[in-house]
Amino acid sequence: MCGIVGYSGFRQASSVLIAGLKRLEYRGYDSSGISVLNTQGLVTFKKTGKIINLQQIVPKDLQGLSGIGHTRWATHGGVTDRNAHPHNDGKNSISIVHNGIIENYISLKEMLKADGVVFKSETDSEVLAHLVAKFYEDDLEKAVKKALTLVKGTYGIICMHRDKPGILVGARNGSPLVLGIGEKEMFLASDVSAVIGYTKQGIYLVDREVIIVDENNYRSTDLGYQELDKKVEHISWELEELEKGGYPHFMLKEIFEQVDSIPRAYSGRIDEDLATAKLGGLNMTNRELLDVERIKIIAAGTSFHAGWVACYLMESMARIPCSIELASELRYRNPIVEKNTLYLALSQSGETADTLYALREIQRKGGRVLGICNVVGSTIARESDGGVYIHSGPEIAVASTKAFTSQITALYLFTLLLARMRSLSWEEGTTFINNLKKLPEMMQSLLETKDQIAALAKKYAHYQDFLFLGRGINYPGALEGALKLKEISYIHAEGFSAAEIKHGPIALINEETPSFFLVPDDGLKSKVISNMKEIKARKGLVIALAVEGDEEVAEIADDVLYVPRTHDFFYPFLMALPQQLFAYYCALELERDVDQPRNLAKSVTVE
Ligand code: G6P
Repeated sequence: MCGIVGYSGFRQASSVLIAGLKRLEYRGYDSSGISVLNTQGLVTFKKTGKIINLQQIVPKDLQGLSGIGHTRWATHGGVTDRNAHPHNDGKNSISIVHNGIIENYISLKEMLKADGVVFKSETDSEVLAHLVAKFYEDDLEKAVKKALTLVKGTYGIICMHRDKPGILVGARNGSPLVLGIGEKEMFLASDVSAVIGYTKQGIYLVDREVIIVDENNYRSTDLGYQELDKKVEHISWELEELEKGGYPHFMLKEIFEQVDSIPRAYSGRIDEDLATAKLGGLNMTNRELLDVERIKIIAAGTSFHAGWVACYLMESMARIPCSIELASELRYRNPIVEKNTLYLALSQSGETADTLYALREIQRKGGRVLGICNVVGSTIARESDGGVYIHSGPEIAVASTKAFTSQITALYLFTLLLARMRSLSWEEGTTFINNLKKLPEMMQSLLETKDQIAALAKKYAHYQDFLFLGRGINYPGALEGALKLKEISYIHAEGFSAAEIKHGPIALINEETPSFFLVPDDGLKSKVISNMKEIKARKGLVIALAVEGDEEVAEIADDVLYVPRTHDFFYPFLMALPQQLFAYYCALELERDVDQPRNLAKSVTVE
């Protein structure tokens, strides 16, 4: 979703801003722009499409040591140059970039129009520039604060004024903002990826915080004048992690990284002697963990599927009732928050608005929420009552891959911990750990089948509709397989429980609609095989993901891919990787923008 960046220092601001925007590209956007302050005043450039389009209109030798930049993911108003940010006031004295949504922008617009303000865009954000200008009396901080008191909605903003060289005023409420502290230079950005090329020292803003920055100093306050004591934090991500490292796409790199990211999620967290997991950040005593009677996971998108997989394990292995709900739905249905229910907010980015607001709603009702996040210091990680980082490293491709398997890994460890406090024996715990530790090698062997998967994708990429079908613990995996395919190839794909097709989806089956079946050698295999036969009987094409050496499945399916044999609980990992590669190669075959698919955003910070 929208990305913002600000710079004040000694370098050419336009270069720093454009480099920062490129680092934020992965969030998803449809236009970009920058404003730089130089001797001519505020100079603004904005353009729809990729950042390369912006680069073509920004002079290479553009002067100016401070500025702001933005990648826009359209919400209010179409994808046009005018609607792109930054937005300036009528006198070109204020320039502002904004992430989030100003909910009362219509009434603010009417008020400003009555003052004679002429609007140039259809955005909600433009009102901010005019509001700040309205209140400006030689004090930018004061004007921004006054403007923000009138605003209802969410924002991460950076604002600058023509007469205040080097000064940036940033503020957040619901949309992330981080300050990067350099030597004689400061950076503001919506996430650390835009600043880690320059500094590893950062400050994360909290909601309703305002930060006033120049090249040497920063000062943080609330929306009034109460100064906030902020801790400077070390940013652990490395620049190389944000590079493609020789891969043609981030997505392929991230699929391959699973061999390392899965062990990163469990390393240092297994107690072999006691056959359990050690999770430092839960902030819960063993007694409190024992009191947990029910678990409820809230998430969105791919995280929702990862959480759903873990629900199966939680019930089977720890025997704790576990359910999952879309965060967006939970928030608005006045959820019942029970005393001994533990909530898990699962989010790669830690910034997804739906998940964050659901977390707040549960906490408001007195519920305890653990955050399972990837991005350290993210809002969900900070606002939850404790949690587990999945440590998958930066995930740049919009379509989530390595975070999915790392999320399941972290949730499996948590399940092991709870299960060992209940009925799981030492021997069973040890077997579970041994199976978990075999995963990286198995994932490696799956990567070696990539050419076979690529050939299969070539054969099938031109079909327009797909079904993805699985059962039990592999049912959410089928939903994820369908999501991957539609996200990046734009092929219409739906995931179902294989058992459900007879209740409707089978009506879609003909020679033109292939079905992708997940068929591990588990207790449900014979049922899934019956479903495969039902499809074949209706001339449907069947691709099966089966266990090595499974002749029975091979005989029925038109094409088979194999995964190594493992314990039933671990097939979701092995089934995920070939589906990710299948989606990747289909998208490649169709010449799609794999890493930044149309209309999608990596981190969805609006509702
Ligand atoms: C967006 C992304 C998805 C992601 C979902 C949830 O829709 O495009 O890939 O799964 O948000 O994101 P989260 O960061 O909360 O896991």
